[in-house]
Amino acid sequence: MRVFVAGATGAIGRQLVPRLVEAGHEVHGMTRSKSNEATLDELGAVPVVADALDPDQVAEAVGRAKPDVIVHQLTALAGEGMRDLKRRLAITNRLRTEGTDHLLSAGQAVGVRRFVAQSVAVYARTGGPVKSEDDPLDLTPPGRQREAAAAMLHLEEAVLGAEWTEGIVLRYGGFYGPGTGMGPGGDMHEMIRKRRFPLVGDGGGVWSFIHIADAAEATLAAVEHGTRGVYNVVDDDPAPVAEWLPALTRMLSGKKPRRVPRFVVRLAAGEFGVLMMTEARGASNAKAKRELRWSPAHPSWRQGFAAA
Ligand SMILES: NC(=O)c1ccc[n+]([C@@H]2O[C@H](COP(=O)([O-])OP(=O)(O)OC[C@H]3O[C@@H](n4cnc5c(N)ncnc54)[C@H](OP(=O)(O)O)[C@@H]3O)[C@@H](O)[C@H]2O)c1
Repeated sequence: MRVFVAGATGAIGRQLVPRLVEAGHEVHGMTRSKSNEATLDELGAVPVVADALDPDQVAEAVGRAKPDVIVHQLTALAGEGMRDLKRRLAITNRLRTEGTDHLLSAGQAVGVRRFVAQSVAVYARTGGPVKSEDDPLDLTPPGRQREAAAAMLHLEEAVLGAEWTEGIVLRYGGFYGPGTGMGPGGDMHEMIRKRRFPLVGDGGGVWSFIHIADAAEATLAAVEHGTRGVYNVVDDDPAPVAEWLPALTRMLSGKKPRRVPRFVVRLAAGEFGVLMMTEARGASNAKAKRELRWSPAHPSWRQGFAAA
């Protein structure tokens, strides 16, 4: 198939493109900048330079590639820790609203058979610790996360509501591994290594992780045989912060994480930061395993962190 990957140079794009090529697909990889053309070429994709926020450029790029499938992995999250975060989140929100709409319109014009898009497994902080795709999302988080949740909802509704194509939403867990914030040199990796990522309260928030290579494998499966709907792409081992953070801090620094009172974290990372550490819910991958015929090579962060 011809596959058009928007976000081909990002953390997941770089893992996904070579896998698509290896599986025999013709990949067209989109980037904003000409300087990334060589990278895309090395990954095996036909480079396409276009700005995802410009509808005419997107229509022209997709019109030229005439893909069977579009994969939407656009974000603008790259950066360091909290620095410039407000701006990065605002652009990411635009990529998830306007960017999604432009890709869908361009895809409809050329009749793409399948549209696969990135979402996040952030479920409502009520009920049991591990959620399925049928459980409600957290649509009312505090602060600027409220707009992020609305943008994510827009993306999901637009993709699932596109009746002319097979719309597939992948709700990824927290990425780790090469090229991610949790990978060596990444901002979160460095914060944990320097013990600047503390335990808050009882650390009862449950997180679901996914190795970036496993996320790419699940995306390949969705491109090839997913059907309309939502899939959680997470590992088999959702775990409370009180378990995974000490394990990872010990691995990277040889010490325990620091403990910090809620009000300090609230000042540094906002109320949402506190809630992620104390109330977040994890996700189940049962549907993705069953219907995408996919299963993670790193079933647990316990071994996956060490391997990465
Ligand atoms: N579930 C998760 O845990 C999750 C999900 C997503 C991201 N993250 C984290 O966020 C951080 C950054 O993610 P990332 O490495 O994927 O980088 P990123 O800088 O967010 O870029 C992602 C992709 O979007 C493309 N893009 C952005 N704006 C564009 C525009 N206007 N037009 C065309 N393309 C555009 C980029 O292309 P060009 O730069 O080549 O133009 C790139 O290919 C990483 O630490 C990652 O782990 C985590």
